[in-house]
Amino acid sequence: MLSHVLTGTTRFVRSSLDHFNARHPWSHNDAFHPWIFTQLPNNRARALDVGCGHGVLVAKLAEHFEHVHGIDPDSSMRRASIDRCAGLSNVTIDDTTLADASPGFDLITMVAVLHHMDLITGLQQVRDHLAEGGRFLCVGLAHSDSMADHVWDIVCALTNPLIGFMRHPWPNYALSTAPLPTRNPDLSIATIRTAVDHVLPGARVRRRLAFRHTIEWTKPAPQQKKTLFR
Ligand SMILES: C[S@@+](CC[C@H](N)C(=O)[O-])C[C@H]1O[C@@H](n2cnc3c(N)ncnc32)[C@H](O)[C@@H]1O
Repeated sequence: MLSHVLTGTTRFVRSSLDHFNARHPWSHNDAFHPWIFTQLPNNRARALDVGCGHGVLVAKLAEHFEHVHGIDPDSSMRRASIDRCAGLSNVTIDDTTLADASPGFDLITMVAVLHHMDLITGLQQVRDHLAEGGRFLCVGLAHSDSMADHVWDIVCALTNPLIGFMRHPWPNYALSTAPLPTRNPDLSIATIRTAVDHVLPGARVRRRLAFRHTIEWTKPAPQQKKTLFR
């Protein structure tokens, strides 16, 4: 009952603010790029951005890594990424799947992508494709299930226009690019936490504004692994 009331309240708050949000749009995904750049690993040979979309993150990572591989199953997204990264000789964009990518990455990023794939399989592939000491930095979306989820949604709905206003004080409709393939998340943050704890022990999962959460994990080096499993 309470959950229904909270869901209804979130919907009402969000629809009431839709008009304002449309005049001050901001990318809820790109907003997490600064967080990613404060978390980069020490080794910076190879980075993989899974579900690279328009390639904004790939282009930024190219300034920090010897080679950046962007993968996306959607051909219009790959086209947009290739156009954006034209001239960056250390970038490859293609339709390789995460399963087929060659392992040994120092960084794997996923921004608004993990809920497009099977959660456990995706996490296992990340674990297997990272080099020791490599980092997984993920910005995710979850389905709201518990009361805490709904309350957090209301906080996000209320802060959304404030952040939009701070980023674009004057009405701004210039965010339009090829629409991103989107999908509604099915799994709650509690389910995601359980899976992450199981597959990536020691990972940190945190709720964030903008209806997002983040996952950060460093693949242990061999001696740390021994300690971990003794
Ligand atoms: C919401 S968009 C996010 C794009 C980009 N990461 C960003 O931050 O703007 C989700 C992207 O994931 C891609 N995608 C969907 N399923 C995928 C999969 N199994 N493996 C990799 N990418 C996938 C979609 O084609 C789409 O470009």
